[in-house]
Amino acid sequence: MGAYFGVSIIFIICLSGFSANAEVFTIRSSSGSDITQALLKAFTSACQSPSPSKVVIPKGEFKLREIEMRGPCKAPIEITIQGTVKADGNAIQGKDKWVVFGNINGFKLNGGGAFDGEGNASWRVNNCHKTFQCKKLPISIRFDFVLNSEIRDISSIDSKNFHINVLGAKNMTMDNIKIIAPEESPNTDGIHLGRSDGVKILNSFISTGDDCISVGDGMKNLHVEKVTCGPGHGISVGSLGRYGHEQDVSGIRIINCTLQQTDNGLRIKTWPSAACSTTAFDIHFEDIIVKNVSNPILIDQEYCPWNQCNKQKPSTIKLVNTSFKNIRGTSGNKDAVKLLCSKGYPCQNVEIGDVDIKYNGADGPATFQCSNVSPKLLGTQNPKACSAPMTKAPKM
Ligand SMILES: *[C@@H]1O[C@H](CO)[C@@H](O)[C@H](O)[C@H]1NC(C)=O
Ligand SMILES: *[C@@H]1O[C@H](CO)[C@@H](O)[C@H](O)[C@H]1NC(C)=O
Ligand SMILES: *[C@@H]1O[C@H](CO)[C@@H](O)[C@H](O)[C@H]1NC(C)=O
Ligand SMILES: *[C@@H]1O[C@H](CO)[C@@H](O)[C@H](O)[C@H]1NC(C)=O
Ligand SMILES: *[C@@H]1O[C@H](CO)[C@@H](O)[C@H](O)[C@H]1NC(C)=O
Repeated sequence: MGAYFGVSIIFIICLSGFSANAEVFTIRSSSGSDITQALLKAFTSACQSPSPSKVVIPKGEFKLREIEMRGPCKAPIEITIQGTVKADGNAIQGKDKWVVFGNINGFKLNGGGAFDGEGNASWRVNNCHKTFQCKKLPISIRFDFVLNSEIRDISSIDSKNFHINVLGAKNMTMDNIKIIAPEESPNTDGIHLGRSDGVKILNSFISTGDDCISVGDGMKNLHVEKVTCGPGHGISVGSLGRYGHEQDVSGIRIINCTLQQTDNGLRIKTWPSAACSTTAFDIHFEDIIVKNVSNPILIDQEYCPWNQCNKQKPSTIKLVNTSFKNIRGTSGNKDAVKLLCSKGYPCQNVEIGDVDIKYNGADGPATFQCSNVSPKLLGTQNPKACSAPMTKAPKM
């Protein structure tokens, strides 16, 4: 009898927390050690497993060098990171990526752990924020062509470049993601997405030096809800039109988010004299609180930082079916709303719902400027819609 029970208990413990038949590969390295080889080996074994499997990085701090965990795998994979992995100082400078998850169908990443890019030293030696001629720094976490995935309860700290980059994803949910880097860290976008379809970003907190969430070309069906941003550069669609061969952007919904102390709030930016001619349509912002945000609502079709383009030629990117509804709070400068559309392709069907943005600076009050757009107005707007003459486009 006794022996029978003992066996049963072990059996039950093995089954708890994951489905029957799951194989578990736990990294057994001691805290402080470099787990790159062990993780790659565990991932490779998990990936070859014919049944769903799981890789566990336990509590502790570990060094991790550049690593690519790529499928295709034989069955779904879950990676649980409970501890912190660190990018090992400057060891990965000059590379363009740190941790890559690629070509996996059926993927979970979770566990409450953190990816620490240890970016501090490289921010100071790089000046990518001032010029495009600078050394390539690694993106902390890349998801390349990951399908049917759930990324939840993880943090990214002090990335050297972008924190998270999503390319070619389908059906991805990111939930409870925490992203932290100092306000002055250059190019540390929180989550950049492009050429993906069906991504949700929910219940997350992003405080960083560049865009909170940035949406690149080819993005379709992005749903962002209950995300708090700031400091940083806000939520941005674009920049679009800098390169040739770009794809349309569509189906972007940003709802119930808060932006605090950001430069730019809700922004769509396209380059003048664009190298391509695409359409960005069906882009909606609703129920957003802005707190001391500079340029809280901004369409900028003359986006041309550091004079990298010919500003005389109008942007050839068409903006169609865009709305901003129930946006309220305070602005950090007088440009509360600025809709600067292309003179070659005026914005079509822009809806502005209730907007209530106050500015208390000495050069106030807040303004609402329009150029090459006749927005459809719903509800009330404060400041009054299109009541101020257009001033110059912001630089950044
Ligand atoms: C970055 O390094 C500088 C100089 O060593 C230090 O003063 C600063 O506190 C560091 N910042 C972070 C975020 O670690
Ligand atoms: C989307 O991905 C999730 C997580 O892997 C999965 O449970 C769900 O079935 C997928 N949805 C579709 C429509 O494939
Ligand atoms: C935002 O959240 C509020 C409160 O939960 C809810 O009533 C509202 O419908 C949400 N907005 C959208 C666009 O879903
Ligand atoms: C607004 O933000 C600016 C920096 O962007 C800061 O200097 C200022 O103190 C903030 N004001 C308030 C009232 O938080
Ligand atoms: C814009 O919205 C209108 C009205 O809902 C719709 O008929 C049209 O197809 C939409 N255009 C684009 C490019 O989404």
